Amino acid sequence: MAKALVTGGSGGIGLEIAKVLSERGYEVCIVSRNEERLRKAAESIANCSFIAMDLSSGKNCIELYKRVRNIDVLVNNAGFGAWGYFVSSELKNELNMIDLDVKALHILTKLYLRDFVIKDKGYILNVASLAAFGSGPLMAAYYAAKSYVYKLTTAINEELRIRKSNVKISVLCPGPVDTGFNARAGVKFSIKPLSDKYVASYAVDKLFKGSMTIIPGKTAKITALLSHIAPERLMLRVCYLIQKNKGK
Ligand SMILES: NC(=O)c1ccc[n+]([C@@H]2O[C@H](COP(=O)([O-])OP(=O)(O)OC[C@H]3O[C@@H](n4cnc5c(N)ncnc54)[C@H](OP(=O)(O)O)[C@@H]3O)[C@@H](O)[C@H]2O)c1
Repeated sequence: MAKALVTGGSGGIGLEIAKVLSERGYEVCIVSRNEERLRKAAESIANCSFIAMDLSSGKNCIELYKRVRNIDVLVNNAGFGAWGYFVSSELKNELNMIDLDVKALHILTKLYLRDFVIKDKGYILNVASLAAFGSGPLMAAYYAAKSYVYKLTTAINEELRIRKSNVKISVLCPGPVDTGFNARAGVKFSIKPLSDKYVASYAVDKLFKGSMTIIPGKTAKITALLSHIAPERLMLRVCYLIQKNKGK
């Protein structure tokens, strides 16, 4: 049976991706911090195991790689956001976010990619955000972190294409999705969110089709396009107003 590893698989987008992969015949291992939540999530998915681990520790990421080998699909989904003016937002929380959203994803991508390249098969789905396409006043570090995920993934995608590899790597860039994300970031929705179920099944479909950048929903696609063509100053102002509206 083919195997998939999903980080942040106990809730939100990760849990729904784990369900979709299980429905498609994968044995799934989900990883996040809260053991009780993981147990409940694993019970709701066929052929699912779990590992309770804080992936903001680089040491834990390497430990995870040693414990879970021979996978066919890696989903780097665990992540969170932080809201607030950069000058006053909490440094410890932001560094923890960078450790999870950037460092953990970087470590796991590299370690599993090396195995995939040797086998010349495997899929990696890195979860970024629409935030990857711009700068985000009031969520400055989160937007920068997701931009790192986007740029890292698309560069690796090109390296794989050049070496005619059968390994596929994609980056998922959703707009607002109805999950536990907002509660942790301390914000509320200013735009109608997509469901985590829809985003998960769309993302898995596109991953297996070999799409490089996956943007679920029409509104998100239009926003991504605008962020590429509109003047940067204008986008910064619009983004500030959206984020200001989201703050509690
Ligand atoms: N929701 C949105 O609007 C949205 C939009 C664009 C992108 N995204 C991205 O989508 C991804 C999933 O977010 P979500 O919306 O599904 O949020 P969520 O409902 O809060 O789920 C986050 C998952 O990550 C796990 N997690 C958090 N910190 C962790 C850590 N230190 N180590 C291991 N696991 C950890 C959580 O479980 P524990 O708390 O038990 O560890 C949970 O399983 C994130 O990368 C996020 O940036 C979300």
